[in-house]
Order: sequence, then structure tokens, then C-alpha cells
Amino acid sequence: MEYPADLSFLFMAPTRIVFGAGAVSEIAVELAGLGRGRALLVTDAHLLGKTDVVRRIEKSLGKACAGVFSDVPADSDVRAVDAGARFGRERGADSIVSAGGGSVMDTAKGIAILLTEGGSLLDYQGFQLLSRRQTPHLAVPTTAGTGSEITYAAVIKDHENHRKLLFADHHIIPDVAVLDPSLTVGLPPLLTAATGLDAFSHGLEAVTSAQREPIADALGLHAIRLVHRFLPRVLHDGGDLAARGQMLAAATLGGAAFSNAQVGLVHAAAHVIGGRHGVHHGVANAVLMPHVMRFNNSAAAGRHRAVAEAMGLDVRGMSDEAAGLAAAKAVAQFVREAGLPSSFRELGVPEADLEACAEMAMSDGSIVYNAVTVTDPEQVLTVLRAAWQGPA
Ligand SMILES: [Fe+2]
Repeated sequence: MEYPADLSFLFMAPTRIVFGAGAVSEIAVELAGLGRGRALLVTDAHLLGKTDVVRRIEKSLGKACAGVFSDVPADSDVRAVDAGARFGRERGADSIVSAGGGSVMDTAKGIAILLTEGGSLLDYQGFQLLSRRQTPHLAVPTTAGTGSEITYAAVIKDHENHRKLLFADHHIIPDVAVLDPSLTVGLPPLLTAATGLDAFSHGLEAVTSAQREPIADALGLHAIRLVHRFLPRVLHDGGDLAARGQMLAAATLGGAAFSNAQVGLVHAAAHVIGGRHGVHHGVANAVLMPHVMRFNNSAAAGRHRAVAEAMGLDVRGMSDEAAGLAAAKAVAQFVREAGLPSSFRELGVPEADLEACAEMAMSDGSIVYNAVTVTDPEQVLTVLRAAWQGPA
């Protein structure tokens, strides 16, 4: 884990983190701590109708709940953000509580922008375009994966153009994250695995990023360690509260790591495959990781060695190159053992579209941080073809 002598970086993780089974009952106190008293509760229809999550949060908020907006689709989109902002404005909301997975939290970040800035969300797409703090936001993740509760990024789909837009700004980092493992015990195995692998991919991509630095490295490697240790446990027993808690911690660690060091080709390609073919973000990352690791091994073998060690592999006596390839193999096996598909072919992605996907990935903001500099869509296409085919 060497760093250049001219290393310079900015690290930010300003979110206040409240952790614990039952922490959801602290929400009203946390909101008051932000000096706010009318929160728009943003969630999705499943959490509202099929779980007690929303009821528990409403109970905690009491009169401080300005209204519940639950019209958030599986992939957050611009229309949902517009509708949520309109609803929040009508209800006189001065703050946001989001309860859900990445899609809900990212929708809430978009709503936070519109409630403060007005106008069209598309005006704020890109990096660091905002000049002031946005609407106070308290995030309550109900999956352990995206880390959106602590990141400066929101990925929001533009349905008209079938692409995912990236909003990245320090002014949309949530103010408070409430990590309550009791909210994630009902998460089914497939979603548990897919979101868990997303957290893993954040650790991996932060550690191998062109913008890597020691603080994000520490967080990213520990995210990998925790997912590797605790994902099998929660898949074996979804009610294992201790393991669920460590998965939530892993997601937040991974989020803090990549919110600073960025992500790379795995995410650039996953955004496109998700946007064009509806593949779940975590599943797309899981399929891509081993292939991107092989592609990146020429530049990131030493980093991959650290990933292998975080996964408990004995790589003593191996060259960095061999240790890096062993790490890629172990990740592929981990994905398989988590019960996830290992090729885009299995997921119904048409082979004929890979070229267009490779072209689009070139304009994704994440690609510039990839360990190996990507200058030609052919490089992406090679990775996508391998990921389509699956493990040899
Ligand atoms: Fe991700």
C-alpha cells in the first residue's frame, strides 16, 4: 500500500452516525438536533405497505412528520424526485427523513436539492455544482449496501433517455444516518446478497481507485473484511441481528470510502447495464468485479493483494500479480456462494448491446478514477464481453 510523495487529498465524512437495534426511536431527537420540526418522510410502497418500518418512524416523529411520500420506484428517477419535491413543498416540509435502500435515499437527496434550490433537477447533474447546504436530511437505510446514508452521491435515472445520472456534491451528504439493524432483518436473501456485494464493491473500488488515500483505504478494506465475514452469516440466518448490524456498518464504511476515493470501472459499467437493462445495481457490480479486477491487475496488483488479505486468503510467497488474480478468483467464488448470477448472459442482457454499453460507460463520471486509465471503449468492451460470458 504505497502512496506517492506528492499525495494530496481531501477527506470528508461529516455525517453523524447513530447505531443500534432500536435506534429508529431516536429519529425525532435527531431531527430536533438539526433544528427542524417538519420532516417529509420519503420511502417506498413496499416498506409502507408490507413492513412496520414506516409506522415505527412515524411513531418516533409524531407531529414532526409532515407527510409520507412513498412513490419511489426500484430505480430512483427524475419524475419521482419532482413529485416528491412538489409533495414536500405542499406540506411545508423543512427537512427530510428517508427510509429505504439506495433508491429511496438518492431520491431524497434529489428532493433535498429541489426543496432548497427549486428549478429542474437536471441543472444540478454533475460534480460539485451546489454552493450551499441543502435541505437537512436524516437517512435510515433498510438495506446494507449503497452507503448512500453517508455519501455525497446520488444516482438518479432519467427514464426518457434510459440512463443513470450522477449527482455528486458535498452539500447533499446526509446530516444524520440512523443505522438500526432491526430494520434490515426482513430483507430477503437475494436483496441481502446483492446489496451486500454493492458494499463490497465500494470497498474494492475505493482501494483500487486512482484517487486512493490511506484513510479511505482503511475504511474500504474493513468494509471488505466485514462483508466477507458477515454476509454468509446473514444469508444463513436473516434474523442474526449482530451480523445484520455489521453489514450495516460495512455499507457505511464502504460509502465513506468511495465518497472520498471514488469508484471506477465496475460502477461506470454497472450504471449503464442497470440503466439500459434493468439489472440490479448490486448484481451488476457482483458480475463485473472479478473481470474488472483482472483488467486492473497490471496497475493494482498490490492493492488486490490487500483485498485478498482482507478476505482471509493466504497470499504469502505469491507475487503481487498472482495474489491479485487469486483475489479476483476469490471474489468470483464469493459472489457464487452468495447465490448471485455470475454473467450478464444469465441476466438476459443482449450481447448485441454490449458495444453501445461500452460507449456509454466512457461518459460515466466514475470511469476516470479507474486504476487502469480507460481511453478507448474497446477496453470496456473486453471487460463487458468477459462479464457477459461469465467465469471461464
Ligand atoms: Fe454502488
